[in-house]
Amino acid sequence: MQWEQLWLNYKKNLDYVDKDFFAVIHQKIEGKLIDSGVRELTKVAEEMFGINTKVKTSIWEEQGDVLQRRCDVISPEEQRIVLQLTDDLSLGEEGYEITIEENQLIINAPSAKGILYGAFHIIRQANQGKPLMDLPRRNIPRNNYRMMNHWDDFGGNIERGYSGKSFFFKDREVLMSERLIDYARLMASIGINQVVLNNVNTREGASELITKKYLPKLRGVADIFEEYGIQLFLSINYAASMDVGGLETADPLDEDVVTWWQKRAKEIYQYLPHFGGFLVKADSEGRPGPFTYGRDHSEGANMIARALKPYGGVVIWRCFVYNCRQDWRDTTTDRARAAYDNFMPLDGMFDDNVILQIKNGPVDFQVREPVSPLFGGLRDTNQILEVQIAQEYTGQQIDLCYLLPMWKEVLDFRTYCQEEEDTVADIVSGRTFGSLKCGMAAVANTGDDPNWTGHDLAAANLYGFGRLAWDTTLSSEDIAREWARQTYHLEGRLEDTLLEMLMGSWNTYENYTSPLGIGWMVNIGHHYGPNVDGYEYDVWGTYHRANHLEIGVDRTSKGTGQTQQYQLPNSALYEEIETCPQELLLFFHRVPYSYRLKSGKTLLQHIYDTHFQGVEEVEEMIRKWESLKEAVDPVVYQRVKERFERQLENSKNWRDVINTYFYRKTMIPDEKGRPIHG
Ligand code: GCU
Repeated sequence: MQWEQLWLNYKKNLDYVDKDFFAVIHQKIEGKLIDSGVRELTKVAEEMFGINTKVKTSIWEEQGDVLQRRCDVISPEEQRIVLQLTDDLSLGEEGYEITIEENQLIINAPSAKGILYGAFHIIRQANQGKPLMDLPRRNIPRNNYRMMNHWDDFGGNIERGYSGKSFFFKDREVLMSERLIDYARLMASIGINQVVLNNVNTREGASELITKKYLPKLRGVADIFEEYGIQLFLSINYAASMDVGGLETADPLDEDVVTWWQKRAKEIYQYLPHFGGFLVKADSEGRPGPFTYGRDHSEGANMIARALKPYGGVVIWRCFVYNCRQDWRDTTTDRARAAYDNFMPLDGMFDDNVILQIKNGPVDFQVREPVSPLFGGLRDTNQILEVQIAQEYTGQQIDLCYLLPMWKEVLDFRTYCQEEEDTVADIVSGRTFGSLKCGMAAVANTGDDPNWTGHDLAAANLYGFGRLAWDTTLSSEDIAREWARQTYHLEGRLEDTLLEMLMGSWNTYENYTSPLGIGWMVNIGHHYGPNVDGYEYDVWGTYHRANHLEIGVDRTSKGTGQTQQYQLPNSALYEEIETCPQELLLFFHRVPYSYRLKSGKTLLQHIYDTHFQGVEEVEEMIRKWESLKEAVDPVVYQRVKERFERQLENSKNWRDVINTYFYRKTMIPDEKGRPIHG
């Protein structure tokens, strides 16, 4: 199957002002990462500028005891890109500096990886038709961990995958294909430096990936990744000592279990010397974990982390732990409290090579949630922010939902854990508490569809995550523009139209789905489309408890007390209905339908209005897409159009189900008399 190149789509641009730099690449350093950078630069030169780049080398190498200079002839007049190491260690392990000296454009970095990122920066600039003179001189990533978490099953399906099958696995085998190389190029180009290959739910024999049976094959994958500066990680089964090792226990304090993991680690690093470590979903949604043995998460995580420690590996331990066998009649159990209740008491108890990975909200990737109170709560623990590119609850890559504005809100959220540098971005970058092992991870679901992401425009989320994880100060609009320009090369006005579509899409999605932070109301299991009571009497938790007068769960101190998991003043703000941000009203409060919002509208009328409006906005997005018909590739145009037709159906369905539900509950009609099904 053929596949597309997404934002590495190099369109001919013979008038590009700085194309002559691409005539010569002068590499003063060698190595596989440098080769990758040179390959990409020469590809750009050929495809965009029709230039056949001359690659010249001058390096020092040892010949016996003597240091010899190996040097191709370079005339001083030749305009060129120079790749060279610098001893400016303030750039860090991955940063770079680009300077222009007469006819040389120089990428300086303390490491080959930094040079590769610098090369991709030049390419990003050229691919947008922007002069290289405008490049910011120094560029250092804000986060050390910039990670993709794939939920690919060993059999070849992708959990929450909406764009085809896995290109990592098929029928319990590890795949090696050309596509892997393009995947690695795409990821490196946006600064991703770590990839977890398999699903956190280690099903279908995936527990065995950490054994000799699969390690040689994984070595092949790791080699490809490493050429692009990407470290391989694997999700493990916490109980692998039983499942794979044949022991009778997975008790973290059991000597045999400890030894088993030590042996496993040793063997893994024999095959994969640069292996990153494990991602673990334990005691979560039926997965095994230390609770079975009366142990806590720190005991479980530390035991495995200690096995990896001699080799530099880490354990990334997910905080997605809650009771998924809840009774809806029990109003004291609140799923939104769970991650905090489980992990706050363990702050400071994890080893330094354990990192807690925390979903952005306290529940589960809903269209609107407050930020997880663990951010700003934990002070003495390495932390990674987890977001979801996959769009499980935000349209499943059928509906357009550009998520960067949401992630920006999360990153910019002030936790008040200290006076300054207290945002989520500060915390996960390590600025607040000085941790180096921290950053951002995203659940990704790229599949083997030609366009990788099902919806062509969903690639903006994939691209955007990498760029944001590198530089959390970038605006979601700038990121969208970068992505659009490199992918579609549209003229100004048309590009603006595409941007308007992306920028408004999250709000639109929120408008026609569950209102004001209440979340859920989706069909159970697959999570697409409306079902207001779908989870209402179910065991998974988070209920809206709507009756004919009011809706919502009281999470204030009079209710479940979840508001008190936040620092002041956030806790106080959320506690009072008057000060609670409107978009989170129904997350924190139980509210009568007649309650007047700041707009003067009643809650009920707000629900009606936003749902009618959401559908109108989808219709407007479709008109905008149609106006781009002549400017985009016909295959892409058609694919996206079909997605929009489905989105329109979905939005109408949501509108009618939600509005009808509340009308039937309240028997209060829409003030504007629009059709609602009584
Ligand atoms: C959600 C999702 C699951 C996933 C889980 C997780 O519950 O529906 O498919 O396994 O999150 O994050 O582990």
